[in-house]
Amino acid sequence: MDTFKRIIAYSKPHWWRILIAAVASIGVGSMDGAFAYLVEPILKKIFAEKQLYILTLLPFGVILLFVFRGLCRYCNDYFVRTAGQLAIQKIRNDVYERSMGLSLGFFNRQSTGGLMSRILNDVNTMQDGVASMITGFFRDGFSALSLLFVIFYRDWRLAIISFLVIPATVYPAQLIGKKIKKLAKIGQEKMGDITSVLQETFSGIKVIKAFALESREVDKFRGRNLDFYTYVRKSIKYDSLSAPIMETITSFGVAAVIWIGGNSVISGRITTAEFFSFVTAMALVYAPVKKLINSYNVLQRAIGSAERVFEVIDEKPDIVDPENPKPLGRAVGEVRFDRVSFSFNEDDLILNDISLEARKGEIIALVGPSGGGKTTLVSLITRFYDPKSGAVLIDGIDVRDLRLSDLLSNVALVDQETILFNDTIANNIRYGKTAATSAEVQAAARAAYAHDFILEMPEGYETNIGDRGVRLSGGQRQRLCIARAILKDAPVLILDEATSALDTESEQMVQEALNNLMVNRTTFVIAHRLSTILHADRIVVIEAGRVVESGTHAELIALDGLYSKLHEMQFK
Ligand SMILES: Nc1ncnc2c1ncn2[C@@H]1O[C@H](COP(=O)(O)OP(=O)(O)OP(=O)(O)O)[C@@H](O)[C@H]1O
Ligand SMILES: [Mg+2]
Repeated sequence: MDTFKRIIAYSKPHWWRILIAAVASIGVGSMDGAFAYLVEPILKKIFAEKQLYILTLLPFGVILLFVFRGLCRYCNDYFVRTAGQLAIQKIRNDVYERSMGLSLGFFNRQSTGGLMSRILNDVNTMQDGVASMITGFFRDGFSALSLLFVIFYRDWRLAIISFLVIPATVYPAQLIGKKIKKLAKIGQEKMGDITSVLQETFSGIKVIKAFALESREVDKFRGRNLDFYTYVRKSIKYDSLSAPIMETITSFGVAAVIWIGGNSVISGRITTAEFFSFVTAMALVYAPVKKLINSYNVLQRAIGSAERVFEVIDEKPDIVDPENPKPLGRAVGEVRFDRVSFSFNEDDLILNDISLEARKGEIIALVGPSGGGKTTLVSLITRFYDPKSGAVLIDGIDVRDLRLSDLLSNVALVDQETILFNDTIANNIRYGKTAATSAEVQAAARAAYAHDFILEMPEGYETNIGDRGVRLSGGQRQRLCIARAILKDAPVLILDEATSALDTESEQMVQEALNNLMVNRTTFVIAHRLSTILHADRIVVIEAGRVVESGTHAELIALDGLYSKLHEMQFK
């Protein structure tokens, strides 16, 4: 019921469309009633009293009736469906907006395909439900109402008898509706699985090709598709059962009408013309009632989907702006980790009691074995995650006391993953500072040694790169990401394997650029190639979530610990 109310709330701003549709549906509905009503006078005047002029007028009357009904129907359809689309558009925007606001933790828990499915498939199902509900409620409702009026007007006693069967239909209708809702929800989850496979395989197509596993993926897809069918089949079963069950139950009413009505005509209680008018209305009332029941089923399916959609809308982001944020303009750039511990799930600590301080302009290198927690540690600075205990401070302020936008405007990040968007090169560089001029973009690209290869592209800076930067080499993509960070010009810089995809020559050039960039900035450099961090102010060795060594290159070599071992292995 709550879900239903929430769907209704989304339709409210479009009340005038719904109002027009409702008025139009009165037109459609009353025409049905009028038609059934007119059966009686027509039969009486034409056939019993032989008034032939009525027969001449009748064809025109019929055409007029249907033209009017058609107009009303058009208005009804158009306004109902646009209202439904507008409501759905808002819902789709809301889910997307809300999911963008959720923290990385949420996206780690959810499969991308599953989320996409909620925004695409579930919202579509809701759309069908909303449109069908409004149409059902107004048009079929009015049709049924006007026909019922004729039925009762013609013979209320017969009407009551024929409707005695109605209560018997309520229970099966509810039962079927409930089943359909449950099945539809599982079906949508299965649809999410299908979207997941699509998303994974299309984005990982290269690996699939390289391992020649196309057939395995096809089998997997077939399996998910079959799974989906299994649930849809059950839902179709109940959907299709609904009409026959209702028909069978109502046939008892029809049988009673024929028997009792027929006898009433013979005994002279009602005229033949009245009886036919009654029967016409009975026959016509069937279609809208069937549609009403059907739209109840569609609505149940929509509610199932809506629950999945609202789940995302209701998800509470765990990383939010504080209530009373402390102001921070451009930070000086002191970063301090104060006894920080962190774990992704409750059990094992990924970071264990780490304390670390970077003063303004210092270069801190983080090195250590893979999986040690270096990436995780720096992701606490940008608040991708919050520490379980301890605090991360910028300029002495806990990052949790800062407005996220203030915090993030002070940090530039070049990641292990070089994500580019389906846009021009210039706009990709501009991502960190949308207001940047072309000259600024070019200066950043020059500093990242990207300018030359950009000019070689067909349209230079205006070249559109494919959605994942497929037309660029790994090193070129990395240089664009570096340019993006350079342009952002933030006081704190995080370089996580930022030069790993470059050859030695361009790495040297980019390194120079980064060296220039690092001046007056606090920088965290994560690198496996130790040659790139020799000049760091401090090297911090992280192993299994703990700081095991810390000092300058010379100090750590003298210490003869893990760092000197790593160094020896790389330079032997
Ligand atoms: N999203 C996540 N959910 C759960 N565990 C994670 C997640 N990301 C990383 N981990 C775990 O946290 C540990 C530290 O990972 P992290 O990426 O910080 O290592 P790293 O030192 O950056 O390694 P590398 O040098 O290979 O980049 C690893 O054991 C990893 O399995
Ligand atoms: Mg890492």
